[in-house]
Amino acid sequence: MDDTNKPAGFTHERIETNNFLMIVLILLVLLVGGAVEIVPLFFQRSTTQPIQGVKPYEPLQLVGRDIYVREGCYNCHSQMIRPFLAETLRYGHYSVAGEFVYDRPFQWGSKRTGPDLHRVGGRYSDEWHRIHLINPRDLVPESNMPAYPWLEKTMVDPAGVAPNMVALQRLGVPYSAQDIAAAADAVKGKSELDALIAYLQGLGTALK
Ligand code: HEC
Repeated sequence: MDDTNKPAGFTHERIETNNFLMIVLILLVLLVGGAVEIVPLFFQRSTTQPIQGVKPYEPLQLVGRDIYVREGCYNCHSQMIRPFLAETLRYGHYSVAGEFVYDRPFQWGSKRTGPDLHRVGGRYSDEWHRIHLINPRDLVPESNMPAYPWLEKTMVDPAGVAPNMVALQRLGVPYSAQDIAAAADAVKGKSELDALIAYLQGLGTALK
């Protein structure tokens, strides 16, 4: 091999033949590329501000949301309508970032054994949900969704909701001191089924 017509100094060959240098440079490219994509999202209004009509969860809805997470509903249901015709015809307006600012953590999900639930709020009556959650087969004979009969018999613990709201308040959710003081009364005497239905009925209703 004749090396005489190679350019002098820093050639690509030097990177390709040096593992350590190659790793450092790859990491540098990933870091800069990642930062350029991610950092602006922290400053964009469309991703950090709630859209008009999106309000922090009511105490009962907040309890219902925890039950949704506890029961693993997200394993079968997404809450993310993509901007494709087939989706918007079926579910309604596609999801936008400003609808999720009070969701900690978000429930976008990644699998649809059942339908997307992001705009299920107001689609059925409370009574429909009640029957469906106690035994889905009573309404949809071919359904493979599990039954959740214990939700009806388990009461919500009123003492649990205020600390949850305080924690969310620290993260920037605008709950007032009065909201938090009134929270225990708002969930007193409610079953877990009531709470879950209140949560479902609020989903996606700000943007119709
Ligand atoms: C094993 C998968 C599975 C799990 C877990 C599951 N679902 Fe479902 N869900 C389905 C399927 C399939 C359907 C469609 C058939 C039906 O309506 O029952 C459905 C339908 C629904 C519907 C009606 C949606 C519509 O637009 O018609 C609601 C509401 C719902 N599920 C809520 C829940 C909630 C709340 C939980 C958690 C407590 C849950 N699901 C857990 C599979 C599941």
